[in-house]
Amino acid sequence: MRRPLFMANWKMNKTADEAKAFASDFTAPKAADAVVFAPFTALPALKDAFANSDVAIGAQNFYPREAGAFTGEISLNMLSEYHVRYVLVGHSERRQLFAEDDTLVAEKYTYAAGKGFIPVLCLGETREERELGMAQTRCVAQLNAVFENLKAEDLPEEIIVAYEPIWAIGTGLTATSADAEVIAGALRNRLTELYGETIAEQARILYGGSVKSENSAELMKEKNIDGALVGGASLQADSFQALIEKGCGFCD
Ligand code: PGA
Repeated sequence: MRRPLFMANWKMNKTADEAKAFASDFTAPKAADAVVFAPFTALPALKDAFANSDVAIGAQNFYPREAGAFTGEISLNMLSEYHVRYVLVGHSERRQLFAEDDTLVAEKYTYAAGKGFIPVLCLGETREERELGMAQTRCVAQLNAVFENLKAEDLPEEIIVAYEPIWAIGTGLTATSADAEVIAGALRNRLTELYGETIAEQARILYGGSVKSENSAELMKEKNIDGALVGGASLQADSFQALIEKGCGFCD
């Protein structure tokens, strides 16, 4: 049985003080894992604030090199000083606003896995791709770009994939849970083809895109959806907590 997983993606929000306030208001869920992807400047505060908590810390970005002349970038080694274990890879905002393509996404995923981090692969279709009936093909292609050349022995300790339809991010629109399940199922089938059933069944597939306490339970009822990657509704401890609790009504 896969343990549910709820991830907060704060994006470019929260000072260190605001992060600290969130941490003191938020209680780690018992029936699920929780990870907070904070901006870099809030990581030191979270390292202390979550030191005795089961909430894990994630970073929203990194550059896949050890060190060197990469102005403005940050290495995994630097992030590990702040107990960062998870890193986002392939978020649509990075793909669209910062021109990260499938090649770089695959490179970052493989690099992070090789360094003992747990990369969270984000993927999803545009509205136009959905309207053209290409959603599934597009998502599986993004999955293939990362995993087709990655041997089972080079996989990270956990496989986590977040299906986030681009048209649903920050818009208030959500895929129906049935539509999300179709894509999540297709992603798991592809992982089965690549790595076999045991590995694919352990992979956690999340949904992301305007998840809130009103729809988390519905999404979590689906067989292949194991949690959520949450932007807007993760910024307040109480709304993130409520979303997890509602979702977890279907966790056990
Ligand atoms: P949202 O963002 O929950 O605000 O739609 C999700 C995400 O971008 O990960």
